[in-house]
Amino acid sequence: MKFFIDSADLDAIAELADVGLVDGVTTNPSIIAKSGRNFKDVIAEICRLTPGHVSAEVVATDADTMIKEGRILRKIAENVCVKLPLTLDGLKACNTLSKEEIPTNVTLCFSPNQALLAAKVGATYISPFIGRLDDITLDGLELIEDIRTIYDNYGFETEILAASIRNVNHVKECAIVGADVITAPPQVVKSLANHVLTDKGLAAFLKDWEGTGQSI
Ligand code: E4P
Repeated sequence: MKFFIDSADLDAIAELADVGLVDGVTTNPSIIAKSGRNFKDVIAEICRLTPGHVSAEVVATDADTMIKEGRILRKIAENVCVKLPLTLDGLKACNTLSKEEIPTNVTLCFSPNQALLAAKVGATYISPFIGRLDDITLDGLELIEDIRTIYDNYGFETEILAASIRNVNHVKECAIVGADVITAPPQVVKSLANHVLTDKGLAAFLKDWEGTGQSI
């Protein structure tokens, strides 16, 4: 399973890249706004931190302008992936950009049928939002499972990029049902390494080692 970082925080991305846990990065207009940075500058800097796909989202709502914006974003770096909303215009833009071999990430997916359409227009990634479904008491994980079944039934190559991941259980559940990629905030990725018994066990090992008076 690939790990993407859902953030524009350069230090946090670099820290996790050093550990070997960054296969790509996703951003959205809210994340860019939160960074307070110039959109193209921050995308260019993120693209230098990882060779993996970095999703940069269009902001137009009509297909023709989305296509223009997508081509502009793609010029920032070779690893830019153009993120498009799951609307008919977004799907049309995805169809055109895919034919130009520009990687695409179709975002704001909340139903299996929407995911089916994204695969049909050649999306590189589909982004089902788990946390936002859970927020309204629907089952985000069930959406990932349904998309997995549909894509496997027909051999679609679009990768399932589980998004809106809010906690470590979401990551585990996505791995169990076979999401191809998860994108999560840096803090969630770091938390995956934590276990109280690991901390307790390590403290005991180090205490016993200290008693030997040896060094390595
Ligand atoms: C994914 O590409 C989105 O940027 C993101 O996962 C949305 O997460 P949120 O629902 O926590 O805002």
